[in-house]
Amino acid sequence: MTGTKLTSGTEWWRTAVIYQIYPRSFADANGDGMGDLAGISARLPQLKDLGIDAIWLSPFYTSPQRDAGYDVADYCNVDPLFGTLDDFEVLQRTAHDLGIRVIVDIVPNHSSSDHGWFQAALAAGPGSEERARYTFRDGRGENGELPPNNWESVFGGLAWTRTTDPDGTPGQWYLHLFDSSQPDFDWDSDWVREQFRAVLRFWLDRGVDGFRVDVAHGMIKAPGLPDYTPPAEGGSMGGAPASALEPGITAETPLTAPYWAQEGVHEIYRDWHQVLAAYPGDRVLAAEAWVDPLSQMAKWVRPDEMHQAFNFAYLETPWNAAKLKSVIDESLEAFGNVGAPSTWVLSNHDVVRHASRLALTGDNLQGHGIGPKTVGLPDTALGLRRARAASALMLSLPGSSYLYQGEELGLPEAVDLPDHAREDPTWFRTKGERYGRDGCRVPIPWEAAGESFGFSTGAKSWLPQPREWAGLARDQQDGVAGSTLELYKLALRLRREHSLASGTVEWLEGFGPEVAAYRNGDVTVVANTGTASVQLPAGDVLLASEDLVGRTLPGDATAWLRSAQA
Ligand code: GLC
Repeated sequence: MTGTKLTSGTEWWRTAVIYQIYPRSFADANGDGMGDLAGISARLPQLKDLGIDAIWLSPFYTSPQRDAGYDVADYCNVDPLFGTLDDFEVLQRTAHDLGIRVIVDIVPNHSSSDHGWFQAALAAGPGSEERARYTFRDGRGENGELPPNNWESVFGGLAWTRTTDPDGTPGQWYLHLFDSSQPDFDWDSDWVREQFRAVLRFWLDRGVDGFRVDVAHGMIKAPGLPDYTPPAEGGSMGGAPASALEPGITAETPLTAPYWAQEGVHEIYRDWHQVLAAYPGDRVLAAEAWVDPLSQMAKWVRPDEMHQAFNFAYLETPWNAAKLKSVIDESLEAFGNVGAPSTWVLSNHDVVRHASRLALTGDNLQGHGIGPKTVGLPDTALGLRRARAASALMLSLPGSSYLYQGEELGLPEAVDLPDHAREDPTWFRTKGERYGRDGCRVPIPWEAAGESFGFSTGAKSWLPQPREWAGLARDQQDGVAGSTLELYKLALRLRREHSLASGTVEWLEGFGPEVAAYRNGDVTVVANTGTASVQLPAGDVLLASEDLVGRTLPGDATAWLRSAQA
């Protein structure tokens, strides 16, 4: 039995279950097929009933929607697609009245090319103050016809686009780590820094409880913007290259991409920490920083920086007891060393839903945008079974957990989207080679009846919903013993009653190599990642992700028990 350290602190975010709402796909109150803020407000009582502590809203700001709102044209306003600032006020008040905190998304690496700041930069021309706010460079080659360096966009293709001067001649190039409609800021500009402080204050003044910070590892680029070719198997968002697993490469091997995880980002977060600290109550900054290993990612949550970072190492861990035990230990150790809680996450709007991902095999294991032509589509029943077991394990762990809308219904990835419906820029920029992320963004089913399964007051939904989702609709699961929704509700209730989120992990041995078993206070958790059944220890069963046969836990299942000698 080994013990892991407990991090202290009473701030709400240390133990919170935070539910990600993807506004386009949660609930549509005006019947246009696109989710909106009024739709969210109307559904909040059902989230209260689920038992979450906070919601994180993906962007709902003014945007041409070239990257589903992560291309912001006005950081301080609501896109008419989603409603108005007044609708936001209503949403936030409704949430707060229900005891639910509200976290909003901030996108500081880039704006939309429609943003007034970028348009002013284009108009002002080379060498201007306005251009210095973004990353413009002259091209290489005799006439500047070659991009300034060899960087590639995360979404595929070049990370540079050439501008056209007002007289119609080709001009400078601008950097976009993502879509060409998402120009990267230059964070060396004090003006940019001041604008973002003002954006934070705008939302803090309105009462938000914190921010999820988009691409929080990308804002600073290495001086001189040197050429860089990422390893072929490396994650495009900057996680460790596959070679990190090879001999000779250690956890200390530095990340070399000149656009990810540069030291200078930390100064920005120390500054933002102060901006939040000037407000009463506990406000949270949560980093989306795809940085490996976890000991490096923990730098984002040092005491004077951000408060939480998404644990993508956990998300990327396969359903395998030994690997899970090791990533759990590593997470508690790395975050604990800087006094931060670990977070846990299995799904979000950028990855294949875990009810499908956990049943992927072989070449598809990376799960990069599965679609209809993927070899060996995941087994839906096995995926759901593993997802329930994996979620039951995650929700027992000390720290803060993130849920992605629809996972509480056991939704799988939508793999049969027609090509014409796809909207992810990845699909367009790779000419269909990568399916992108639309399959995890399909509007969620609330009711089995009706064209849009209760997602919309009308019949439409912006991405088509698989017809078999009728059976997974919330109204088919609510109050139904054994449903995935009831499993989540029970887990969240027990997690609170037994203070699991502020507990510790003490591994228990003797269950075999395919079982991760541990004690957290007065609860024993047994997660069986193998196929053979295992005998449960003594103690009342509090929760089980599958039916038990007597006191045996079947394969691909997790149980929680009241510890015998507690
Ligand atoms: C983040 C978001 C993703 C977006 C990208 C660019 O990774 O989660 O959805 O496309 O940043 O803003």
